[in-house]
Amino acid sequence: MSAIGNFFSEIPYIAPSLKLNYTKMSVQKKVIKRITTHILQEMKRNDEPIAMLTAYDYSMARILDAAGIDILLVGDSASNVMHGHETTLPITLDQMIDHAASVVRAVKRALVVVDLPFGNYQSNPMLALESTVRIMKESGAHAVKMEGGAEISKAIKKVLTAGVPVMGHLGLTPQSIYKFGTYTVRAKEKEEARKLKEDAKKLEELGCFAIVVEKVPAKLTKEVAASVDIPIIGIGGGKHADGQVLVTHDMLGITKDFQPRFLRTYLSLFEEIKNATKSYIKDVKSRDFPDDSEQY
Ligand code: KIV
Repeated sequence: MSAIGNFFSEIPYIAPSLKLNYTKMSVQKKVIKRITTHILQEMKRNDEPIAMLTAYDYSMARILDAAGIDILLVGDSASNVMHGHETTLPITLDQMIDHAASVVRAVKRALVVVDLPFGNYQSNPMLALESTVRIMKESGAHAVKMEGGAEISKAIKKVLTAGVPVMGHLGLTPQSIYKFGTYTVRAKEKEEARKLKEDAKKLEELGCFAIVVEKVPAKLTKEVAASVDIPIIGIGGGKHADGQVLVTHDMLGITKDFQPRFLRTYLSLFEEIKNATKSYIKDVKSRDFPDDSEQY
């Protein structure tokens, strides 16, 4: 199905809390076919947590969307988990578009947000716009995400004036890993915390529809979430964020060597897939597979 066909397909879904909050919400009784940036802001106003995960391919996106995830982020963490790079820096715009198009083909309900890759927006607002236009046209995604605060205002503004929703990203911003030198908790010191709060205000003022806040003290996330009207989506930012995001491969235990304190793993897929593969190899080698019922 084309991105447009997909977008308008009838997917009757009423978010559980929206069913309960008929009197509170303007989306009362409304069948939600597609999560929009406006619905996310309404969720914040109604104190309904937003659930976001990463996706990079069709099959996984189909499962996550069927489960009812609100936002799918085609994160540049694809650089690590899909391409095996040490950092998020090497992934290219073409690769991001390819991942995003696969995700969009799978999704019926979730909002699909795509990371602008390193080097495609920081230096030049026109480049930010051109990269965004390619993402939107070639993948059919619904929004883009950029890392940084006031220093990338011009790029954010340019993209927003073209009518594309922008998600911000503050705190630990992995594209700046060589500046930070480590993946440790950010904004523990007063000055960095003050700048982060100011940046969150600035991103809201510019018109960002939400902000990811990564690996900062829970108290700071709470203050930031209370200081802006747009949703704050935390990753390692504690329980006071308006929503949470994890890298799907971490959450499912596929990337088994990554165990930060903030990560909750729901499966141990590395081990499960490895064991299933061992069983398959054993069955093939012993000529147990295929048996009579598995042939023509
Ligand atoms: O690229 C990514 O997966 C991200 C999340 C960690 C928020 O930016």
